[in-house]
Amino acid sequence: MKTALVTGANKGIGYEVARQLAAKGFHVFVGARNPKAGRKAAKEIVSQESKATFLEIDVSDNDSVTNAAREFSTIANHLDVLVNNAGIIADGDNAILEISDDLFQKTLETNTLGALRVTRAFVPWLRKSNAPRVINVSSGSGQLSGGADGWAPAYCISKTALNGVTVQLAAALPKFAVNSVCPGWVRTEMGGENASRSVEEGADTIVWLALEAPQNLSGKFLRDRKEIPW
Ligand SMILES: NC(=O)c1ccc[n+]([C@@H]2O[C@H](COP(=O)([O-])OP(=O)(O)OC[C@H]3O[C@@H](n4cnc5c(N)ncnc54)[C@H](OP(=O)(O)O)[C@@H]3O)[C@@H](O)[C@H]2O)c1
Repeated sequence: MKTALVTGANKGIGYEVARQLAAKGFHVFVGARNPKAGRKAAKEIVSQESKATFLEIDVSDNDSVTNAAREFSTIANHLDVLVNNAGIIADGDNAILEISDDLFQKTLETNTLGALRVTRAFVPWLRKSNAPRVINVSSGSGQLSGGADGWAPAYCISKTALNGVTVQLAAALPKFAVNSVCPGWVRTEMGGENASRSVEEGADTIVWLALEAPQNLSGKFLRDRKEIPW
Protein backbone atom coordinates (compact mmCIF):
# COMPACT_ATOMS: atom_id res chain seq x y z
CA MET A 1 0.00 0.00 0.00
CA LYS A 2 1.27 3.46 -0.85
CA THR A 3 1.93 5.75 2.11
CA ALA A 4 1.88 9.51 2.53
CA LEU A 5 2.62 11.92 5.36
CA VAL A 6 1.00 15.35 5.30
CA THR A 7 2.08 17.87 7.95
CA GLY A 8 -0.46 20.35 9.28
CA ALA A 9 -3.20 17.98 8.08
CA ASN A 10 -5.77 18.70 10.78
CA LYS A 11 -7.36 21.52 8.76
CA GLY A 12 -7.19 23.65 5.64
CA ILE A 13 -5.25 22.58 2.55
CA GLY A 14 -3.37 19.85 4.44
CA TYR A 15 -6.61 18.17 5.53
CA GLU A 16 -7.97 18.25 1.98
CA VAL A 17 -4.75 16.77 0.56
CA ALA A 18 -4.80 14.02 3.22
CA ARG A 19 -8.47 13.30 2.52
CA GLN A 20 -7.94 13.04 -1.24
CA LEU A 21 -4.83 10.85 -0.98
CA ALA A 22 -6.63 8.51 1.43
CA ALA A 23 -9.57 8.33 -0.98
CA LYS A 24 -7.08 7.35 -3.71
CA GLY A 25 -5.94 4.37 -1.66
CA PHE A 26 -2.98 5.74 0.27
CA HIS A 27 -2.40 4.95 3.90
CA VAL A 28 -2.19 8.58 5.01
CA PHE A 29 -0.39 9.76 8.10
CA VAL A 30 -2.27 12.81 9.31
CA GLY A 31 0.46 14.98 10.80
CA ALA A 32 -0.65 17.52 13.40
CA ARG A 33 0.93 19.25 16.37
CA ASN A 34 -2.35 19.28 18.30
CA PRO A 35 -3.24 15.65 19.16
CA LYS A 36 -6.94 16.35 19.69
CA ALA A 37 -7.34 18.08 16.33
CA GLY A 38 -5.11 15.53 14.58
CA ARG A 39 -6.99 12.52 15.96
CA LYS A 40 -10.32 14.07 15.00
CA ALA A 41 -9.14 14.73 11.44
CA ALA A 42 -7.73 11.20 11.05
CA LYS A 43 -10.98 9.75 12.39
CA GLU A 44 -13.05 11.75 9.92
CA ILE A 45 -10.89 10.56 7.04
CA VAL A 46 -11.06 6.93 8.22
CA SER A 47 -14.83 7.16 8.49
CA GLN A 48 -14.86 7.87 4.76
CA GLU A 49 -13.59 4.27 4.35
CA SER A 50 -9.98 5.23 3.86
CA LYS A 51 -6.86 4.40 5.82
CA ALA A 52 -5.54 7.26 7.94
CA THR A 53 -3.38 7.34 11.05
CA PHE A 54 -2.77 10.36 13.24
CA LEU A 55 0.91 11.22 13.72
CA GLU A 56 1.85 13.85 16.28
CA ILE A 57 4.41 16.19 14.72
CA ASP A 58 5.34 19.76 15.51
CA VAL A 59 7.59 20.70 12.61
CA SER A 60 9.22 23.51 14.59
CA ASP A 61 10.48 21.08 17.25
CA ASN A 62 13.34 18.71 16.48
CA ASP A 63 12.42 16.24 19.23
CA SER A 64 8.84 16.09 18.06
CA VAL A 65 9.96 15.36 14.48
CA THR A 66 12.39 12.66 15.65
CA ASN A 67 9.67 11.05 17.77
CA ALA A 68 7.25 11.19 14.84
CA ALA A 69 9.75 9.39 12.58
CA ARG A 70 10.25 6.74 15.26
CA GLU A 71 6.50 6.28 15.68
CA PHE A 72 6.04 6.10 11.89
CA SER A 73 8.64 3.32 11.67
CA THR A 74 6.64 1.16 14.08
CA ILE A 75 3.66 1.29 11.69
CA ALA A 76 5.07 1.53 8.15
CA ASN A 77 8.24 0.40 6.38
CA HIS A 78 8.37 2.97 3.58
CA LEU A 79 7.09 6.45 2.71
CA ASP A 80 6.08 7.31 -0.87
CA VAL A 81 4.91 10.92 -0.50
CA LEU A 82 5.83 13.63 1.99
CA VAL A 83 3.79 16.83 1.85
CA ASN A 84 5.45 19.60 3.87
CA ASN A 85 2.30 21.67 4.28
CA ALA A 86 2.45 23.04 7.85
CA GLY A 87 2.85 26.80 7.83
CA ILE A 88 2.15 29.98 9.76
CA ILE A 89 1.80 33.69 9.32
CA ALA A 90 2.79 35.09 12.71
CA ASP A 91 0.69 37.84 14.31
CA GLY A 92 2.45 41.17 13.77
CA ASP A 93 4.18 40.15 10.54
CA ASN A 94 3.38 43.56 9.10
CA ALA A 95 6.46 45.54 8.09
CA ILE A 96 10.01 44.48 7.30
CA LEU A 97 11.60 47.25 9.39
CA GLU A 98 9.41 46.54 12.41
CA ILE A 99 9.23 42.76 12.82
CA SER A 100 11.14 41.36 15.78
CA ASP A 101 13.96 38.83 15.47
CA ASP A 102 11.73 36.48 17.43
CA LEU A 103 8.88 36.72 14.94
CA PHE A 104 11.27 36.24 12.02
CA GLN A 105 12.94 33.22 13.62
CA LYS A 106 9.63 31.61 14.59
CA THR A 107 8.36 31.97 11.02
CA LEU A 108 11.52 30.50 9.47
CA GLU A 109 11.61 27.73 12.08
CA THR A 110 8.19 26.49 10.98
CA ASN A 111 7.88 27.36 7.30
CA THR A 112 11.45 26.80 6.12
CA LEU A 113 13.51 24.77 8.57
CA GLY A 114 10.41 22.73 9.47
CA ALA A 115 10.15 21.34 5.94
CA LEU A 116 13.87 20.54 5.79
CA ARG A 117 13.85 18.97 9.24
CA VAL A 118 10.88 16.70 8.44
CA THR A 119 12.37 15.70 5.08
CA ARG A 120 15.71 14.84 6.71
CA ALA A 121 14.01 12.75 9.39
CA PHE A 122 11.92 10.79 6.87
CA VAL A 123 14.53 10.34 4.12
CA PRO A 124 15.41 6.80 5.27
CA TRP A 125 11.77 5.71 4.65
CA LEU A 126 11.41 7.76 1.48
CA ARG A 127 14.50 5.98 0.11
CA LYS A 128 12.59 2.70 0.48
CA SER A 129 9.91 3.91 -1.96
CA ASN A 130 10.19 3.11 -5.69
CA ALA A 131 9.22 6.68 -6.57
CA PRO A 132 9.71 9.02 -3.61
CA ARG A 133 8.07 12.42 -3.78
CA VAL A 134 8.47 15.48 -1.57
CA ILE A 135 6.06 18.38 -2.02
CA ASN A 136 6.78 21.65 -0.26
CA VAL A 137 3.72 23.86 0.04
CA SER A 138 5.14 27.29 -0.70
CA SER A 139 3.49 30.49 -1.89
CA GLY A 140 3.58 32.89 -4.81
CA SER A 141 4.27 35.53 -2.16
CA GLY A 142 7.79 34.06 -1.94
CA GLN A 143 8.51 34.69 -5.62
CA LEU A 144 11.37 37.14 -6.15
CA SER A 145 10.58 37.66 -9.82
CA GLY A 146 7.61 39.96 -9.18
CA GLY A 147 9.19 42.09 -6.46
CA ALA A 148 7.45 42.55 -3.10
CA ASP A 149 4.46 44.62 -2.01
CA GLY A 150 5.29 44.76 1.70
CA TRP A 151 2.70 42.18 2.81
CA ALA A 152 3.77 39.71 5.56
CA PRO A 153 7.53 40.04 4.99
CA ALA A 154 8.74 37.26 7.31
CA TYR A 155 6.22 34.84 5.78
CA CYS A 156 7.21 35.81 2.22
CA ILE A 157 10.92 35.43 2.96
CA SER A 158 10.29 32.07 4.63
CA LYS A 159 8.64 30.85 1.42
CA THR A 160 11.46 32.25 -0.76
CA ALA A 161 13.86 30.30 1.44
CA LEU A 162 11.62 27.22 1.31
CA ASN A 163 11.97 27.33 -2.47
CA GLY A 164 15.74 27.35 -1.89
CA VAL A 165 15.33 24.23 0.26
CA THR A 166 13.40 22.62 -2.62
CA VAL A 167 16.13 23.11 -5.21
CA GLN A 168 18.85 22.01 -2.78
CA LEU A 169 16.93 18.85 -1.87
CA ALA A 170 16.23 18.12 -5.54
CA ALA A 171 19.98 18.26 -6.21
CA ALA A 172 20.83 16.14 -3.16
CA LEU A 173 18.16 13.52 -3.88
CA PRO A 174 18.36 12.79 -7.63
CA LYS A 175 15.99 9.79 -7.53
CA PHE A 176 13.34 11.84 -5.74
CA ALA A 177 10.82 14.28 -7.16
CA VAL A 178 11.09 17.36 -4.94
CA ASN A 179 8.97 20.38 -5.83
CA SER A 180 7.45 23.57 -4.45
CA VAL A 181 3.79 24.41 -4.99
CA CYS A 182 1.82 27.62 -4.74
CA PRO A 183 -1.79 26.58 -3.98
CA GLY A 184 -3.16 30.01 -4.93
CA TRP A 185 -5.21 32.14 -2.53
CA VAL A 186 -7.34 29.58 -0.67
CA ARG A 187 -10.31 29.87 1.72
CA THR A 188 -8.76 28.51 4.93
CA GLU A 189 -8.05 29.98 8.34
CA MET A 190 -4.86 31.44 6.86
CA GLY A 191 -6.33 32.57 3.53
CA GLY A 192 -9.57 33.97 4.98
CA GLU A 193 -13.11 33.77 3.64
CA ASN A 194 -12.56 36.23 0.78
CA ALA A 195 -9.92 34.08 -0.90
CA SER A 196 -10.63 33.15 -4.49
CA ARG A 197 -10.07 29.38 -4.28
CA SER A 198 -11.72 26.44 -2.52
CA VAL A 199 -9.57 23.95 -0.61
CA GLU A 200 -10.19 21.45 -3.42
CA GLU A 201 -8.66 23.90 -5.91
CA GLY A 202 -5.80 24.63 -3.51
CA ALA A 203 -5.05 20.93 -3.10
CA ASP A 204 -5.18 20.12 -6.83
CA THR A 205 -1.53 20.61 -7.86
CA ILE A 206 -0.27 19.03 -4.63
CA VAL A 207 -2.35 15.89 -5.20
CA TRP A 208 -1.33 15.84 -8.87
CA LEU A 209 2.35 15.95 -7.87
CA ALA A 210 1.73 13.14 -5.38
CA LEU A 211 -0.06 10.88 -7.86
CA GLU A 212 0.37 11.73 -11.51
CA ALA A 213 3.26 14.07 -12.29
CA PRO A 214 6.28 12.51 -14.01
CA GLN A 215 8.90 11.29 -11.53
CA ASN A 216 11.59 13.27 -13.39
CA LEU A 217 9.77 16.55 -12.74
CA SER A 218 11.89 17.85 -9.86
CA GLY A 219 13.38 21.05 -8.51
CA LYS A 220 10.49 23.16 -9.85
CA PHE A 221 7.98 25.68 -8.54
CA LEU A 222 4.42 25.01 -9.74
CA ARG A 223 0.94 26.46 -9.67
CA ASP A 224 -2.05 24.95 -11.50
CA ARG A 225 0.14 22.00 -12.60
CA LYS A 226 2.48 24.34 -14.48
CA GLU A 227 5.95 25.65 -13.76
CA ILE A 228 6.10 29.27 -12.52
CA PRO A 229 9.10 31.59 -12.01
CA TRP A 230 10.94 31.60 -8.68
N1 LIG B 1 -4.46 29.71 2.28
C1 LIG B 1 -3.76 30.32 1.34
O1 LIG B 1 -4.27 31.23 0.66
C2 LIG B 1 -2.33 29.93 1.08
C3 LIG B 1 -1.66 30.56 0.01
C4 LIG B 1 -0.35 30.20 -0.26
C5 LIG B 1 0.27 29.23 0.49
N2 LIG B 1 -0.40 28.63 1.53
C6 LIG B 1 0.32 27.61 2.31
O2 LIG B 1 -0.46 26.44 2.41
C7 LIG B 1 -0.14 25.74 3.61
C8 LIG B 1 -1.42 25.39 4.35
O3 LIG B 1 -2.06 26.60 4.69
P1 LIG B 1 -3.62 26.72 5.03
O4 LIG B 1 -4.13 27.84 4.24
O5 LIG B 1 -4.27 25.40 4.96
O6 LIG B 1 -3.50 27.25 6.54
P2 LIG B 1 -4.25 26.85 7.88
O7 LIG B 1 -5.66 26.51 7.64
O8 LIG B 1 -3.88 27.94 8.83
O9 LIG B 1 -3.51 25.50 8.32
C9 LIG B 1 -2.15 25.50 8.66
C10 LIG B 1 -1.81 24.13 9.21
O10 LIG B 1 -0.41 24.13 9.59
C11 LIG B 1 -0.34 23.66 10.92
N3 LIG B 1 0.87 24.11 11.61
C12 LIG B 1 1.30 25.37 11.86
N4 LIG B 1 2.45 25.34 12.54
C13 LIG B 1 2.76 24.04 12.73
C14 LIG B 1 3.81 23.35 13.37
N5 LIG B 1 4.83 24.00 13.98
N6 LIG B 1 3.82 21.99 13.35
C15 LIG B 1 2.83 21.31 12.76
N7 LIG B 1 1.77 21.89 12.15
C16 LIG B 1 1.74 23.24 12.15
C17 LIG B 1 -1.61 24.15 11.59
O11 LIG B 1 -1.83 23.47 12.82
P3 LIG B 1 -2.75 24.11 14.01
O12 LIG B 1 -4.18 23.85 13.65
O13 LIG B 1 -2.28 23.37 15.22
O14 LIG B 1 -2.43 25.58 14.06
C18 LIG B 1 -2.60 23.80 10.49
O15 LIG B 1 -2.89 22.42 10.51
C19 LIG B 1 0.80 26.66 4.40
O16 LIG B 1 2.14 26.25 4.23
C20 LIG B 1 0.57 28.01 3.76
O17 LIG B 1 1.69 28.87 3.89
C21 LIG B 1 -1.68 28.96 1.84
